[in-house]
Amino acid sequence: MTAPATSRGLAQAPTSHSKLLAWVHEVAELTTPDQVVWVDGSDEEWQRLTDELVAAGTLVRLDPEHKPNSFWARTDPTDVARVEERTFICSVDEADAGPTNNWMAPDEMKRTMTALYRGCMRGRTMYVIPFVMGPLEAESPMFGVEITDSAYVVASMRIMTRMGAKVLEGMGDDADFVHALHSIGAPLAPGEADVPWPCSQTKYISHFPETREIWSYGSGYGGNSLLGKKCYSLRIASVMARDEGWLAEHMLILKMTSPEGKVHYIAGAFPSACGKTNLAMLEPTIAGWKVETVGDDIAWMRFGDDGRLYALNPEFGLFGVAPGTGWTTNANAMRTLDRGNSVFTNVALTDDGDVWWEGMGEPPAHATDWKGADWTPDSGELSSHGNSRFCTPINQCPILADEYHDPKGVPIDAILFGGRRKTTVPLVTEARDWVHGVYMGATLSSETTAAAAGQVGVVRRDPMAMLPFIGYNAGDYFQHWIEMGKGVDGDAAKLPKIFYVNWFRRDDDGKFLWPGFGENSRVLKWIVERLEGRGAAVETPIGYVPTADALDVEGLGLTRAEIETALKVDIDEWRAELPQITEWFEKFGDKLPAVLWAELDALRARLDGQ
Ligand code: GTP
Ligand code: MN
Ligand code: MN
Repeated sequence: MTAPATSRGLAQAPTSHSKLLAWVHEVAELTTPDQVVWVDGSDEEWQRLTDELVAAGTLVRLDPEHKPNSFWARTDPTDVARVEERTFICSVDEADAGPTNNWMAPDEMKRTMTALYRGCMRGRTMYVIPFVMGPLEAESPMFGVEITDSAYVVASMRIMTRMGAKVLEGMGDDADFVHALHSIGAPLAPGEADVPWPCSQTKYISHFPETREIWSYGSGYGGNSLLGKKCYSLRIASVMARDEGWLAEHMLILKMTSPEGKVHYIAGAFPSACGKTNLAMLEPTIAGWKVETVGDDIAWMRFGDDGRLYALNPEFGLFGVAPGTGWTTNANAMRTLDRGNSVFTNVALTDDGDVWWEGMGEPPAHATDWKGADWTPDSGELSSHGNSRFCTPINQCPILADEYHDPKGVPIDAILFGGRRKTTVPLVTEARDWVHGVYMGATLSSETTAAAAGQVGVVRRDPMAMLPFIGYNAGDYFQHWIEMGKGVDGDAAKLPKIFYVNWFRRDDDGKFLWPGFGENSRVLKWIVERLEGRGAAVETPIGYVPTADALDVEGLGLTRAEIETALKVDIDEWRAELPQITEWFEKFGDKLPAVLWAELDALRARLDGQ
């Protein structure tokens, strides 16, 4: 006999929000946990949860000398990344999920998952996490409640979102909220011993856009389980944004100040593991320029009363790719992590109680790798999974901009699109106008990375770096972007200018043509000059590309020929893209905005004219 829900903690519910209470009751009845805990977000709670996770073997406490109040976690080796094949947009009409999402009818998905959820929290604690994406002080705070049976998720949500008792209070008795249900799908029979990373081989990451619900099952990995992030702030929010006339995007937001003290805000959409966190925290290598961080992964953009597009970072933490993060590539991330209060997942543990990963610097002589095995530099294996992550509070970032806290967001001057391309795509290109910029975004291409399960290094189209995150038909999404270009008062001059960047082009020997990281400030400088009506460029068939002299390359140590190669527009390579783009566009049938076909035709004509 399972205990009635009242004895599982509902009687002590710290809210009188009747819809929330009813939902918590319903989920507890379905999933039959041993107890229900309302998460308050306090330090005592963090202490208790992390102690429990350490006792369970899920977390290992790091040496506070290196990383105070920080932990090392290893997942099940099959639960390491987002699972795009198992991610569904369950719109009522299949056409609304479009050709780029997996779809299942909402009632069918709910039937399937209800069967999985039945009794799935047996032997475990069900946590109720009230959270808000963006500041609680916002005019209309964007509430969510995640129910989960994973204490790792609770701890991570405390880092990644504003959550707990204050948020619950802010919800009052009747605030709307996104219902986000998560289970690792690993019930425990009486007396059954737990494993350090319980999860299920059956996984579903489902979204119900019409009812703004998220149902996730079977995975503990962050992208699948921290439902405020990709699931809410991108997939569900993109649908809200379509309906309400704003944009929810997979973008970093940075503040750049020139030596003269002029401020520009730049947003950038690059696919997962293609450089957003690095660019957001960049240390300029050019004298007098300053970069501050507003966001590293998600931007919500709305028009302000002044007709400009304002971007807000709805998150509270950084969930960054660990490998490649080091003192030479991203010192600000390293400084953020050294302040502690972080969870590291699937990196290596050093013998002195610190973490290490490839790209951090000198390897330790011995460590425990992400699979729990002995590791030495001669092991011939990577110590850390390619998608291993750090989860750390954003307010520890030493260059966090004050504007991060402003519910209004920051007015965006430039939007960057970019991907990981060995060939073809030059270092930077400026779009001819908004619609051309939307075309650039819609045809964005990148080689796949370890951030999602599947093959790595294959070129795929990843529109606006949102392929795995658009919560509706991507053709409609392109149309929405076109509509946004009309602005509030039709004044195109107030819109951000759009650029396309590629830090990943290589020479014939496979070496990166551009040093990247802090040196990307040189590209940002050119972009700022273009915004200010300066900065020399040549008009090419694909847009405006800097002349070799226009980039500030002082002290960079590249030859002019190398810079020209990085900037080169190779007509034959671009011609070879055309059939791929045609094929891509054809996927969308009638949904593809005609102006994007017109852009492709115009590009073909310009290439033919060469
Ligand atoms: P998600 O957090 O998954 O959305 O990805 P992200 O876009 O934030 O990626 P991140 O900044 O963490 O970069 C991931 C990888 O790109 C790491 O391996 C970095 O070393 C590499 N990278 C980032 N910036 C540059 C760059 O300017 N040049 C080169 N060559 N590599 C870079
Ligand atoms: Mn991301
Ligand atoms: Mn990132």
